[in-house]
Amino acid sequence: MFTNIDAKIIARMDYLQKIDLQDRIDGTERMKRLRQIPPETGKFISLLAANCPPDGEFIEIGTSAGYSTLWLSLVAKELGIKIKTFEILPEKIKLAKETFAETGVEKYVELIEADFLTSVKTIGNVSFCFLDAEKEIYLDCFRSVASLVVPNGILIADNAINHYNSIKTMIDLALADIRFDCLTVPIGKGEFICRRNCT
Ligand SMILES: C[S@@+](CC[C@H](N)C(=O)[O-])C[C@H]1O[C@@H](n2cnc3c(N)ncnc32)[C@H](O)[C@@H]1O
Repeated sequence: MFTNIDAKIIARMDYLQKIDLQDRIDGTERMKRLRQIPPETGKFISLLAANCPPDGEFIEIGTSAGYSTLWLSLVAKELGIKIKTFEILPEKIKLAKETFAETGVEKYVELIEADFLTSVKTIGNVSFCFLDAEKEIYLDCFRSVASLVVPNGILIADNAINHYNSIKTMIDLALADIRFDCLTVPIGKGEFICRRNCT
């Protein structure tokens, strides 16, 4: 997946990384910032997604400008599936559309322009879920996705270290849920991995 990334994807990733970096130092207000994952997190979630079972949907909650989705599109291409990614803000939707059109990944990505929590009813079984939205909705997202995750499927929540206090209720709920094996991995901002066990 990582050895033959299309030049257009690399160029757009570089472009978005530069904007994200600039956002973080120039005082751009929070809701306008791209707030992307770093590249190592992109690689990490892609490696995990590539090993998820094929019998459910691959979803992302929080597209922003589509940087993390570009990493997941590498998986979609390899597995012959389509990632469904949810974004609520019109400015971010516009940027994400630009990202997907410029890089030619539209056949691997479906952008759903809606609040995930009101759209979750449209989702079937879930093989892979990357949760990277406002921290206030993590608990509700976990509650609505957990029962959809297929055995050996994975839910990953971003910001498990830098926003630990804000998402602690979700982390504690997942840790107490006997259907899941969970672990926080200290990569990027901290990735909280929940694997649906097979028993
Ligand atoms: C941290 S950013 C996502 C960054 C992106 N995953 C990346 O790494 O490139 C969070 C995004 O989630 C979106 N968001 C927040 N609440 C949402 C919701 N209820 N449904 C869909 N998207 C939501 C925000 O508008 C924002 O663009």
